[in-house]
Amino acid sequence: MKICIYPGSFDPITYGHIDIIERASKIADKLIVAVLNNFDKSSLFTVEERLEMIRESIKKYDNIEVESFEGLLVDYAKSKGARIIIRGLRAVTDFEYELQMAQTNRELYSDIDTMFLLTNLKYSYLSSSVVKQVASYEGDISKFVTPYVAEKLKGKFNRYNV
Ligand code: COA
Repeated sequence: MKICIYPGSFDPITYGHIDIIERASKIADKLIVAVLNNFDKSSLFTVEERLEMIRESIKKYDNIEVESFEGLLVDYAKSKGARIIIRGLRAVTDFEYELQMAQTNRELYSDIDTMFLLTNLKYSYLSSSVVKQVASYEGDISKFVTPYVAEKLKGKFNRYNV
């Protein structure tokens, strides 16, 4: 069985991530969306909230699992029997960082490969930080995230609460 891992912070999940998840789920027999429990990067949403928003966004797919992980990605991949890491590339500027990560992961675990999917042009400008910034100023985020995630963002920026 071809098990692939799509790791990230997903703080929160955007349409850009969903596009990658949908396409990766067609390549993998089983796709694991793995949320990094990252102590270095301060996040708006807790890991549990991020997992819940992802699960809500991908519930129509039956070959996708959503989990959190800590520590090295390659150790997590080994524990799951996964040999393919999926990453989205939005623009050339992503490449250097992604190349470094992919090479490091392969040095750490020679059986792992990273597969890059080009992010849909529609979402090539998108990042979770941009979405949070627009939401914090009460801007329209309906083109960036699902209605469910938009509600959760509104909840975080209290001014929106009814
Ligand atoms: N659509 C929209 N946004 C996208 C996107 C897409 N297709 N692809 C990436 N992004 C955005 C994310 O929203 C995120 O935005 P933000 O910085 O505003 O939050 C940004 O790009 C970074 O993406 P993300 O996928 O969350 O990467 P990351 O750098 O936070 O985490 C890990 C990457 C989890 C894979 C990496 O940190 C990791 O493996 N950590 C574990 C430790 C480890 O093993 N280290 C050794 C490897 S070097």
